[in-house]
Amino acid sequence: MFRKLANCHNVEDLRLLAKQRLPGPIFHYIDGAADDEVTYRRNSSAFDDCDLVPNVLAGVEDIDMSVTVMGQKLDMPLFCSPTALQRLFHHDGERAVARAADKFGTYFGVSSLSTVSLAEIGAMTNSPKLFQFYFHKDRGLNATMLESAKAAGFDALALTVDTITGGKRERDLHTGFTTPPRLTLKSLLSFATHPSWAYNYFVREAFELAELKGHIPEGSNISVSVAEYFSGFLDQSMNWDDAADLCAKWSKPFCLKGIMSVADARKAVEIGASAIMVSNHGGRQLDGSRTPFDQIKEITDAVGGDIEVILDGGVRRGTHVLKAMAAGATAVSGGRMYLYALAAAGKPGVERALSNMHSEIERAMKLMGVTALSQLTPDMLRYRDR
Ligand code: FNR
Ligand code: LAC
Repeated sequence: MFRKLANCHNVEDLRLLAKQRLPGPIFHYIDGAADDEVTYRRNSSAFDDCDLVPNVLAGVEDIDMSVTVMGQKLDMPLFCSPTALQRLFHHDGERAVARAADKFGTYFGVSSLSTVSLAEIGAMTNSPKLFQFYFHKDRGLNATMLESAKAAGFDALALTVDTITGGKRERDLHTGFTTPPRLTLKSLLSFATHPSWAYNYFVREAFELAELKGHIPEGSNISVSVAEYFSGFLDQSMNWDDAADLCAKWSKPFCLKGIMSVADARKAVEIGASAIMVSNHGGRQLDGSRTPFDQIKEITDAVGGDIEVILDGGVRRGTHVLKAMAAGATAVSGGRMYLYALAAAGKPGVERALSNMHSEIERAMKLMGVTALSQLTPDMLRYRDR
């Protein structure tokens, strides 16, 4: 059945449209995760193990779903997590996501592995922009990326701390996924059966990792797996002193992405971070890791008043956002919730995904009897397994 964007009413509909539009190796790079993908599945199912207790007769004709996080007021509590290689999924890539995020007045997270330059993205929109920083062995590259993000007017920096080595992405091992895609008989066959994608990839603007290409050719015009990129180019000696140094050099809102323990959340406060993203990288790193939703309350109870706590991962519904906020999250972020949409239909796709989520959040707030997200409290949650 050929799906159309107008019939995509949720993330799963968009996922199936993306699956239809993308060559297998590229779809599985987005859809896949580490090892047995247990954490990946649990990231979303954890929300199903917790029920909402609504109040009624609260007069909810006018609701306000804005939040303030990392120095910016967002028009909705959900923002786009940084994800790599976006022009591999759709030829407009980060340009499409930047414009869609702008339309919904929310943060756009741009990866170190962006396929559009920070300078271009910075010039495109005035909406909140987060630069996600990978800490490379090449200190010159680190310094250049930091200056590029500052010059481009990015509002916040997120140091990713859960990729000190690559997760075992077994789907990518089976498909031979690399960035850029290696041209083999198998991959060419998958491209040939997706002519629209193939035309856009091979005929339009050449693929490149805009911030890395001048420093390391791998990833732009030398094919590498993501695991090879992590192990070959990221600095595995990175420690809290490096994080504190980067925080001081950035001087605007600074976030640590991939914090899961209370002890690390407390260290993030000590180094002066503005926010943490409680995240397991969408299940793509340590399979068997606890889910952000299962872990968030422990962290907000410990540091909630001292640092902003963002829940990242597994979010597929507006009710997931409300459950996270009730558990104490300052804001919520997601990757696949907009990435399938990008792959499926570019900017209109991402706008559809954010519109679906926006209306689900509004509906859920009204049915919960709240007019502002600050009214959501832990006593509105009942965990089935506790
Ligand atoms: C990611 N993620 C990610 N994170 C990061 O810090 N830098 C990156 O370059 C990427 N790239 C990336 C690519 C793809 C295809 C995916 C699916 C994810 C992780 C991302 O920021 C976020 O943590 C997860 O996507 C959250 O899980 P959900 O929302 O996808 O379930
Ligand atoms: C990933 C890396 C690029 O999850 O963060 O694929």
